[in-house]
Formats: sequence, C-alpha cells, structure tokens
Amino acid sequence: MANKQLVCALLWVLALIGSIIEHGEAASDFVKADGTSFAVNGESFYPNGFNAYWLMSKGSKPSEMDKVSRALCQAPSYGMTVVRTWAFKDGGYRPLQSSPGVYNEDMFKGLDFVISEAKKYGLRLILSMVNNFKGKRQYVEWAKQRGENLTSEDDFYTNYLVKTFYKNHVKTILLRNNTKTGVVYKDDPSIMAWELINEGRCKSDLSGRTMQAWIEEMAGYVKAIDSEHLLEVGLEGFFGGLDQDQEAIQYDSFASSRNVGSDFISNNQIHGIDFATIHLYPNLWIPHADDATQLSFF
Ligand SMILES: *[C@@H]1O[C@H](CO)[C@@H](O)[C@H](O)[C@H]1NC(C)=O
Ligand SMILES: *[C@@H]1O[C@H](CO)[C@@H](O)[C@H](O)[C@H]1NC(C)=O
Repeated sequence: MANKQLVCALLWVLALIGSIIEHGEAASDFVKADGTSFAVNGESFYPNGFNAYWLMSKGSKPSEMDKVSRALCQAPSYGMTVVRTWAFKDGGYRPLQSSPGVYNEDMFKGLDFVISEAKKYGLRLILSMVNNFKGKRQYVEWAKQRGENLTSEDDFYTNYLVKTFYKNHVKTILLRNNTKTGVVYKDDPSIMAWELINEGRCKSDLSGRTMQAWIEEMAGYVKAIDSEHLLEVGLEGFFGGLDQDQEAIQYDSFASSRNVGSDFISNNQIHGIDFATIHLYPNLWIPHADDATQLSFF
C-alpha cells in the first residue's frame, strides 16, 4: 500500500509538471461535444471511465478520505479519464441534503475534496443530481410533509413544489464554491458533464410524455445557469413511449421490452442534451450465460 501511494504521489508530481509545461494548469478547458466525438480545445478526448457512487461519502470522513485519493490516483494508470459519481444524497443516514435546501457542510466538503482530487490526477467527473430510486421518493415525501397531496413517486416529475426543490438542488450544486479549490462548480472544467437523474423512469406514464416534458424543463434550467458544461440525462437506453421507433427496436433484442416511460431517442434529441448514455447489465439480463456470451453483449 505504502509503495503504491508513493508511486501515486510521484506520478502526481510528474503529471503536474507535465501539465504546467503543456497548459499552465491542469484541465483548464471544458470537454465539448464535437459531432459524434468529444473534444478538449479542438483535440479529441476519449472518455473511458468508471462509476464510483461512494466518493462523496468516503471523502467526507477523515478516516476514509484516503480511499478516494487512492482510487482517483490509480485510475489514470488503467487508462481511465472519467469518473462518474453522485452529487446527491437526499435524506437518510449522513445526507448531503437533509431536507429541501438544507445541506450538511461536512458532506459538501467531501464532494469538494472528490473534485479537487480528480483535478489533481487529471480525471474528469460526471456528476449526477438525483437518483430515480430513493431520491424521487424522498423529494415527493418532502413535498407531502409540506401539505402537497401526492400519491405516487412519479409526482416527482410534475408537482410544482417538487420541481422547485429539485431546481434548488441543481442550483446549489452549480453555484457551490469549492472550499478546496476556490473554483465554483459551474466554472470548473474538471467536471465533464452534469447528469439530470440516474436511471430516470416514469412507469405511471408509458407514453413517455411526462419524462420528455421534465427533461426539457430541467435541461433548460441547467443551461440557463451553466452553458459551458455538457449535460446528459442519465438514461439506461430503453426505447419507449407510445411513439417508439419500431425500426430502432428491432436492433435491440433485450432492452426493447423495457418500456419504463423514458424514450432513448426523443429524450436525447432535446435541446440542451449534449450526449446519450446507456447502462448495460448483461449479468442480470442474461444471467445464465457464460462470461464470453455476456461480454459479447457489449
Ligand atoms: C388527493 O388526491 C386524490 C387523487 O387525486 C383525491 O382523490 C383526493 O380527494 C385528494 N385529497 C385531498 C385532501 O385533496
Ligand atoms: C470562491 O472562493 C475563493 C476562495 O475563498 C474566492 O477567492 C473566490 O472569489 C470565490 N468565488 C466566488 C465566485 O465567490
């Protein structure tokens, strides 16, 4: 372990010297979409990365911050350039947002630390704003506690008060002044992109119109505050909606049967959405297949 840390420290010094010679400072330009590729300052950028939902939580604990540094330090040696993580933890144990608009500063400093470590090792971040699963339910619960008559967690997408809570969270993240770097998140090029919602679904409206309208509204909201960063929805990649594209579906033998109220094609065509995402779980979708078959799914 000690050796690995020493190597990381050494690599960091070299990387820093390298980037000072090259650019004057680390990650000074934003990642942009360029046709079907990504580019930084006109040069192509290949995002190869990993998910680590736990970074903020560990980064906020003095006894565990080291795990964040080790992961982010080692990633570039495996050719990684991007890390995707949560910029939310709504309610529950050690929340970031304990109730609407109320933030736990220790947790926020954990996120500050994650961003500053990513910057240090030359990684870019994709930061997600809410989780479909627990987060949607928590937002709706908060609105119910304030007297809204809500019956479904999908009211997340339509209720005025819930949408106001969500927008306030987005704004709080975008305008956060990082206590470690002194750079406001919306001005920080080490963030590659924002994500509206992890694996958003709206099973109560399979026409897809509810999610489409929500994405349009929220993409406009993000871009009005921050027009520099890329934005993506956080979709799993399911074709869906009543107007679903039958031609596209025939190329998708597994996921096409999953209409969950999102629509990969129309959701990604929304103005302000800069790139598409898909999430693959061949281990769950073809559970009894061998490794080679599961790998071939990719
Ligand atoms: C709450 O909403 C439900 C379903 O829309 C409705 O049937 C009910 O009367 C409402 N209750 C109140 C107190 O407004
Ligand atoms: C962010 O914090 C740094 C360090 O305290 C400060 O120098 C900078 O002016 C702040 N930025 C904004 C926009 O307030």
